[in-house]
Amino acid sequence: MADLIQIETDPETAAAVLDRVPLWFHTFSLNRSRGLYTHGVARDHRYRIPALPEDFGGMSVLDIGTFDGFYAFLAEARGAGRVVAVDNEQYREWVSSRWGVELQGGEGFAAIRELLDSEVDYQRIDAFDLDELGETFDLILCFGILHRVENPLGLLKIMRRRLAAGGQVLLETHGAADRTLDSAAVHIPAPGEVYAHDDFVYWGFTPAGLDAMARHAGFEGFELIDTPVIDGHPRVLGTLRSSPLD
Ligand SMILES: C[S@@+](CC[C@H](N)C(=O)[O-])C[C@H]1O[C@@H](n2cnc3c(N)ncnc32)[C@H](O)[C@@H]1O
Repeated sequence: MADLIQIETDPETAAAVLDRVPLWFHTFSLNRSRGLYTHGVARDHRYRIPALPEDFGGMSVLDIGTFDGFYAFLAEARGAGRVVAVDNEQYREWVSSRWGVELQGGEGFAAIRELLDSEVDYQRIDAFDLDELGETFDLILCFGILHRVENPLGLLKIMRRRLAAGGQVLLETHGAADRTLDSAAVHIPAPGEVYAHDDFVYWGFTPAGLDAMARHAGFEGFELIDTPVIDGHPRVLGTLRSSPLD
């Protein structure tokens, strides 16, 4: 999966980048022949790749909760016309409590942006302030974040407002532990239950629950793509579309 983005920097530069950033969430291939990779703590995210366009053909893309920016850089590499990547850098808190590593915030993203000479626009803002961007997007990526916000319906409503006519949201989130796929229920894990020492996982969703919530937010509904179990954790992946009349 790391090889989907071609970086291929020289070994000295790669070593300096690996030295500078104390923890990575995403795995990037810095120099394949020397086997130099960032060792991202996010594992087994391959199931998301088939849901992404092979060709972003000039689309405007918003990646919410981008962390090191893998999906934003992939969108740019696959032809997106404009990519905005946002994060409130909440991860600094759970990276510290889970791995005892202190991040400044944004250092992994900045390092890859420089290596790629990328034009992805990084903004350190909260997803609940996205209306401040004042623009709409053809594709919004919302991966690994909906279960980490206190007001998931509010976030869906904000994404609906940021979506251009005919656009769609690709949504991936934590699933309900008991896997009751056809019930519009929400699982509420105890603090630290999903990931030890990480108190920021509030919800586990079912596809039916996401569908009901999406309709409240003004989408046509939630179209399920996959419900894999990754490293013992249920996940839900699908799309939210605006109504064709909007
Ligand atoms: C588990 S990581 C997922 C990273 C990436 N989207 C992926 O799926 O590989 C969740 C990200 O969402 C960010 N995040 C959480 N709450 C946020 C909020 N309210 N606004 C913006 N970013 C947020 C975190 O800081 C973190 O970078």
